[in-house]
Amino acid sequence: MKEAIEQILKEIEDLKAASQKEVEEARIRFLGKKGEITALMEQFRGVAPELKREYGQKLNDLKKAAQAKIDQLKEAAEQAAEAITPKEDLSMPGDAFPLGSRHPVSIVRQQIVDIFRKFGYDVAEGPEIEDDYHVFEALNFPPNHPAREMQDTFFVSTGHVNPLLLRTHTSSVQVRTMESQDLPIRVVCPGRVFRNEAISARAHCIFHQVEGLYIDKDVTFADLKQAILLFAREMFGPETQIRMRPSYFPFTEPSAEVDVSCNICKGKGCNICKGTGWLEIMGCGMVDPNVLKASGIDPEKYSGFAFGMGVERIAMLKWQVNDLRHYFENDMRFLQEFATATEV
Ligand code: PHE
Repeated sequence: MKEAIEQILKEIEDLKAASQKEVEEARIRFLGKKGEITALMEQFRGVAPELKREYGQKLNDLKKAAQAKIDQLKEAAEQAAEAITPKEDLSMPGDAFPLGSRHPVSIVRQQIVDIFRKFGYDVAEGPEIEDDYHVFEALNFPPNHPAREMQDTFFVSTGHVNPLLLRTHTSSVQVRTMESQDLPIRVVCPGRVFRNEAISARAHCIFHQVEGLYIDKDVTFADLKQAILLFAREMFGPETQIRMRPSYFPFTEPSAEVDVSCNICKGKGCNICKGTGWLEIMGCGMVDPNVLKASGIDPEKYSGFAFGMGVERIAMLKWQVNDLRHYFENDMRFLQEFATATEV
C-alpha cells in the first residue's frame, strides 16, 4: 500500500492538464467515487492497526495534495478558456461617434485653392501678425493712406517706424513671396485677415481671403482676364460671364473690380444680385511697378497681375446665405446644413 500511495503521489505531482475536460477526467481518475485514491481509502480499512497511524497520515496527505493540484489545474484551465472566449460580445455594433463636418468657409477656401492649383499655382502662407512694411509700405500705400489709420487696422504695437499689426489682407504674403522666391512666381495666398469694422450682415472684423499673384515676362491684362474667367467658370458654372469695372488699389495699376453674372437668375435680375444680374466677387489688377521695385524685381523686365477675394463673400454667393455673421457663430443648426457639402 505504501508503494501505491507513493506511486500515485508522483503521478499527481507530474500531472498536467490543459483543458477543463482533462482536469475533470483527472479528478475522476484520482478522487472520483471509483477513483484510485478512493480505492486506497477503502483498502485502508483492512490495514493492520499498528500501521494505521502511519498510512492514515500518508493517505490524508495524498488526498490533500491531489485536491490542491486539481484545484490549481482547474483554475488555470478556466483562465485560459476565458481568455479565448471573452464575456463581451465583440460582434456587437459600437456606439456611434458623432462626427463633425468641414466648416463652409473651409470648404469654399479649399475649392478656390484647388481651382488655382489646377492652373499651376502654388500655395503660400504667412504670419497673421505682420509689420507695417509687408502690409502697407511694400505695397505702395502712401504714408497717409486712409487704410493705415486706426479705424481699419488693429495695431499690436505702435510708436515706431515699422509697427506690428494684424494683417488687413493677405497681400503681405505676396510681398514675402516676391522677396524669397525666384521668378516666375505663381501663388495663391489663403488666410485670415482682420479689419477694425463694426460687425454687421455684410462686414466682420475677421474674415478670410484668397489672393493670387502671377509674375513673369510679358504678363498682360489679357492673361489676368483669362485667368479670372476660367476661375469664375470653374467656381460658378461653365455659362458664367465676367465683367470688369475700373477701380483703385495702391498696389495695382490699372485696377479693376470683377463681377460675375448672377447664376441664380441667369442675369435677369433677382434679390441676390439686387436686380442687376451681376455679383461682385473680387478686386484685381496689374502689379504696380513700385511694388515690383520694392521687392527687388525689375519692372522693365517683368510684369504681373494680382487678385484677391473674400472667401465668405464667395460662400455667400454659392449658398445664398446673406448674413456674414452665420459663418462665425458656429450655430450647429447652420453648420449641419453643410455636412454633406464636401464636394471638393
Ligand atoms: N488686397 C485687396 C484687398 O484686400 C484685394 C486685391 C488683391 C486687389 C490684389 C487687387 C489685387 O481688398
